[in-house]
Amino acid sequence: MTPSNTENAPSKPDEPAASKAPAAAASAPKPAAERPYSPGLEGVLAAETAIGYVDGANGRLLYRGYPIGQLVEKGTYGQVAELLWTGEWRRTARLVPAELPEPVVCALHELPEHTHPMDALRTAVSVWGAWRRPHWPPTVDQVRELTSFAPSALAAFHRIRNGQDPVKPNQKLSLAGGFLQQLNGKDPDPAAARALDAYFVVGAEHGLNASTFTCRVIISTRSDLASAICGAIGALKGPLHGGAPAEVVSQLHEIGSPEKADKWVREAIARGDRIMGFGHRVYRAYDPRAAALRKVAEGMADMADWLDTAVKVEDVVLRIFGELKPDRVIKTNVEYYAAAVLQGVGLPPDLFPPTFALARMAGWGAHAIEQASADKLIRPDARYVGPPETDVPSFGH
Ligand code: SDX
Repeated sequence: MTPSNTENAPSKPDEPAASKAPAAAASAPKPAAERPYSPGLEGVLAAETAIGYVDGANGRLLYRGYPIGQLVEKGTYGQVAELLWTGEWRRTARLVPAELPEPVVCALHELPEHTHPMDALRTAVSVWGAWRRPHWPPTVDQVRELTSFAPSALAAFHRIRNGQDPVKPNQKLSLAGGFLQQLNGKDPDPAAARALDAYFVVGAEHGLNASTFTCRVIISTRSDLASAICGAIGALKGPLHGGAPAEVVSQLHEIGSPEKADKWVREAIARGDRIMGFGHRVYRAYDPRAAALRKVAEGMADMADWLDTAVKVEDVVLRIFGELKPDRVIKTNVEYYAAAVLQGVGLPPDLFPPTFALARMAGWGAHAIEQASADKLIRPDARYVGPPETDVPSFGH
């Protein structure tokens, strides 16, 4: 489907100019100075979506109408991904961890030592795109293939950087279970696989967050799925977005004990630092995903002590925010207890952000499909605040 080539043709010379004026005037937007500007597009509606509803005021999150708490308790990532992509709840839906195409394994071997895991995942997706050549518009098959490929790629990268060979996926396992199996070279404890699957469900979708918006912008130009996901991974890498859970771990380590939390937090806020795992652009209530993941973490072995400290520190942080920022509701966000679950299944902190990307593949894919069906180029405007028009100085050449 390509735009008709008459769409941009110049108007016919014999067409009276006057007949264009009213139409042109009608379609021209108001001058930029008269239009509202919202830094960071805060509060701006940039799309209509049927995929996820983030109710910031009431701390609710729905995937195609289903509450996140019920999806974590009753669903699997395979079922949830299918729901996001098709709108259908299929009880038998599952995702199979995919084997890696040889070009991807070769590329992972060529990466420099100490490559950031998000850069490795982005590179793997890019090579997948060069090999698979997914054409626009993105399809459910394409997003299912990429979602099933990504965990195997990240696991292979992790083994290669540790001097180990990648292992083939046990395709009887879930996507989360297959990821742990390929990371560790042996089938995971079923409880750990279930906990990670729950994390994938929680991380799958969240409306027009920065990485999903990036994905939609790229799809809106009629570019391909691999390009869109590479852009999304780039956006998610930032510490203000998907990079936070790893920082939560180091933050709690730095604080040391709940007794030291009050002083540490006040000094950090005074420095203008962000307390990782708290605050959100949309939620003005407790992030329902944090509550869901705290419940998952409470059921995990060996996490009791870490959780005990995390809960006490959380109480201190929330009390201080209430005192110092009374006019801005700053609550716990998903990343705070995501750190608990990801640590609990044995992942090193630098794999937390790319594991978040593995989960979000489902939401990115759903939004790519939805954006393609809207087929409207995303191109906002900007208010010019630069120098007024002036002549280029002549230097008497
Ligand atoms: C995710 O959008 C999504 O849906 C994202 C996400 C998803 O699923 O895709 O939910 C995932 O990204 C969760 C957020 C993970 N990031 C962190 O935990 C990093 C710490 N959080 C902050 O950086 C911050 O809360 C943001 C970036 C998440 C949101 O920031 P906003 O909405 O842009 O708000 P802001 O930065 O303009 O802050 C408003 C005020 C400021 O105070 P003033 O300078 O006006 O006095 O609140 C303060 C901020 O200083 N503030 C914080 C804070 N969060 C806000 N101060 C200290 N620590 C914080 N965490």
